[in-house]
Amino acid sequence: MFLNGATVGFDTVNNKAVFIDQTLLPTEYREVATDDFNEIFDAIKFLKVRGAPAIGVFTAISLAVLMNKSTADTYEELFAELKDYCEKLVLCRPTAVNLKWATEEMLKVAEKLNRENFRTYLIRCALDILDDDVAVCRKIGEYGADLLKKCNSVLTHCNAGRLATVKYGTALAPIYVAKENGHNIKVFADETRPLLQGARLTAFELCDADVDTTVICDNMASFVMKNGLVDAVLVGCDRVALNGDTANKIGTSGVAILAKHYGIPFYVCMPFSTFDKNIKTGDEIVIEMRNGDEIGEMWYENRMIPQNAKTLNPAFDVTDNSLITAFITEKGVIAPGEIKNYI
Ligand code: MRU
Repeated sequence: MFLNGATVGFDTVNNKAVFIDQTLLPTEYREVATDDFNEIFDAIKFLKVRGAPAIGVFTAISLAVLMNKSTADTYEELFAELKDYCEKLVLCRPTAVNLKWATEEMLKVAEKLNRENFRTYLIRCALDILDDDVAVCRKIGEYGADLLKKCNSVLTHCNAGRLATVKYGTALAPIYVAKENGHNIKVFADETRPLLQGARLTAFELCDADVDTTVICDNMASFVMKNGLVDAVLVGCDRVALNGDTANKIGTSGVAILAKHYGIPFYVCMPFSTFDKNIKTGDEIVIEMRNGDEIGEMWYENRMIPQNAKTLNPAFDVTDNSLITAFITEKGVIAPGEIKNYI
């Protein structure tokens, strides 16, 4: 196995982007190594690689791999090919800004290169992005563990753990760091319909790390909050606007509204690569709409809703900044109103 505890990686010897196929978890652990554009595109589109930071890192690695095997001759041809890959990949998942961010980082580096150093420097840039993600998530974990010193139990939505990044995760990083420090925090994981990232992935990685884990259906969050079973909510994010409005997995805004109602702090764990300084508010965030089959067919032997019933499948929603207690970032714990001062 190449990844050795990481979620995505760069096999520079064989020039391959490597990922865990998360659609198979928790039943099967399979690493896939590829240098094929269509396979890379499908891996992102169909959530084999998912979670905003992991998508960003995987995109950077994939672009380096694709350009390393390119047969283009001139700098102009190389740059045009890279740009074309970027433009195609960016369409895969429109809400997670890390995807766009990674393509922009790679293009920014490529602009300064020449025919001779093009391939080597893109590889170096991708490896830097990978290393940065690990360091940033570790910092989020440390700030979060400090903040949660008196906390016994948290609720989380979707998967913002190690499977959504290279290592550690964002929303689950504080849990892992606290555990290293001898502080065991219990986690309630929303199952997160329709793709069940909470039930399949969050529960998988937490149990693997020996964290006390309880899976609940999405409609049970109010019950656990009302009955005092959780002290805080920790979630990740896919795009944060200048005013702190936050796009995350569908259902997050409902959890935030409940947390406010029950007086439970609601924390968004955010690497700055997920901060979109180009948009003022959450109204400008494009929400990815996915196929309705994910609701009524994907997990069932036979379609479980009537043939003529329609479906609506937005993959994300936007949580209003007024519902967020603070952002836990690699730069510290920051109030929503302050976040714009950190760019
Ligand atoms: O559709 P997904 O599974 O990619 O959605 C993932 C999320 O919504 C995560 O909470 C978010 O990307 C943060 S991951 C650190």
